[in-house]
Amino acid sequence: MAKVAIVGAGHVGVVYAAGLAELGHTVRVVDIDRARVVALRKGRVWFHEPGLPELLARGLRRRRVTFATSHPSAFAGAEFIFVCVPTPTTTDGSLDDSMLRSAFQLIRKHTGADRPIVVNKSTVPVGTGDLARKVFGDSGLQIVSSPEFLAEGRAVEDFFHPSRIVLGSNDRPAAEAVAKLFVALRAPVVYTDVATAEFSKLAANAFLAMKVSFANALARLSEAVGADVDGVTQVLSLDRRIGEGHLRAGLGFGGSCLPKDVAAVEHLARQSDANADLFSAVLRVNRDQRSRVVDHLIQRFGSVAGRRIAILGLAFKAGTDDIRESAAIALAEQLLALHADVVLYDPVARAEIRNGAVKASVARSAIGAARRADAVVLATEWPELAAVDLKELRKAMRGNVLVDGRGIVAPGAARALGFDYFGFGRGGRTQS
Ligand code: UGA
Repeated sequence: MAKVAIVGAGHVGVVYAAGLAELGHTVRVVDIDRARVVALRKGRVWFHEPGLPELLARGLRRRRVTFATSHPSAFAGAEFIFVCVPTPTTTDGSLDDSMLRSAFQLIRKHTGADRPIVVNKSTVPVGTGDLARKVFGDSGLQIVSSPEFLAEGRAVEDFFHPSRIVLGSNDRPAAEAVAKLFVALRAPVVYTDVATAEFSKLAANAFLAMKVSFANALARLSEAVGADVDGVTQVLSLDRRIGEGHLRAGLGFGGSCLPKDVAAVEHLARQSDANADLFSAVLRVNRDQRSRVVDHLIQRFGSVAGRRIAILGLAFKAGTDDIRESAAIALAEQLLALHADVVLYDPVARAEIRNGAVKASVARSAIGAARRADAVVLATEWPELAAVDLKELRKAMRGNVLVDGRGIVAPGAARALGFDYFGFGRGGRTQS
């Protein structure tokens, strides 16, 4: 069993720490955020991720996971150092690699003759491997690029059942040593060069985003021809060449990965004088989904000014409290700018909203949010919202406009209760 250090106690870093510990390795995580480190030492995970607190607790109990704020102490004796730092987007769509650069510099500075293998898990612009090699110089440190494919809300499951492990390096023995850490998972391993590994991650996320936008483009056309988009995408997903997943029509993709990574690929295409149209269209279709909801509400009310609109579901998807690039938040902001009276509710992500993301009131329950509302928008596919008592919802509301932004309630049942229902590609927008 190996000694592993992890730089960055974010979503990826903590899941890898707990997961690697469960596989029997000893892991020390370093983060500059002292409060975060103190909480994690007590087993308190600062974000919502099903199964992670229990997994981390086991790692802490067995003394296989520890947390530090000092890099030299974290790196001492480590055979592997995983880099799991954020790479946010800059205003021009490129990825900001400053935290990564600083992590590489700290590794160079605080590791000695033991020469740990450095494993980069952060999503990076293609060419970051070269950056690492430049920083490492003649130190003998080797970089293996191993993009992560964990999805929020199911990250623990994804860790233990990876569809593939990608290892990009020009040092095959180093890549094979990394593969050994995960041998118990019996996942297919792809050995490749650094640039291919780096680009494959961006490409995978761009493809998933394209599937979502494709489903949303089909939803629009389903409305035009009177088809049901869920039926159409079901037929598509049964074709093995197309594959299931990411074909659910609705408010579109959000989160910290898909929007950022498609923008990065679009940026890369522009920079390389390649055709960026496909990637631009994916982003445009995604933006349009949100505007369509605003347009629909304006069409229903003439103006949304002074209208009470409840947005149920704020997380960018179910299973997480993450509101980064959330469609619900974007929608709330657009409606507030049009002077609507917006009230928000989420089963899990309430604190995130109270911390100042949007200036709107926050309710404690779905029905509470709907009270005296002219319209309700279902914006996240939380099971709690899919199971909401439509009769109670209707009773609580002043109006009857229901926008099902995630296709989670049955249109027929909603209409039978007197709702003016709209769902993307689900029965035409003008039907009532
Ligand atoms: C995504 C990828 O799925 C992971 O493989 C990857 O590791 C991760 O990014 C990352 O780069 O770290 P995640 O951002 O957690 O994971 O979310 P997804 O499950 O991919 O969903 C993204 C967005 O698309 C959500 O807003 C979701 O509501 C939306 N979506 C997803 C749809 O609108 N329709 C679908 O059918 C699926």
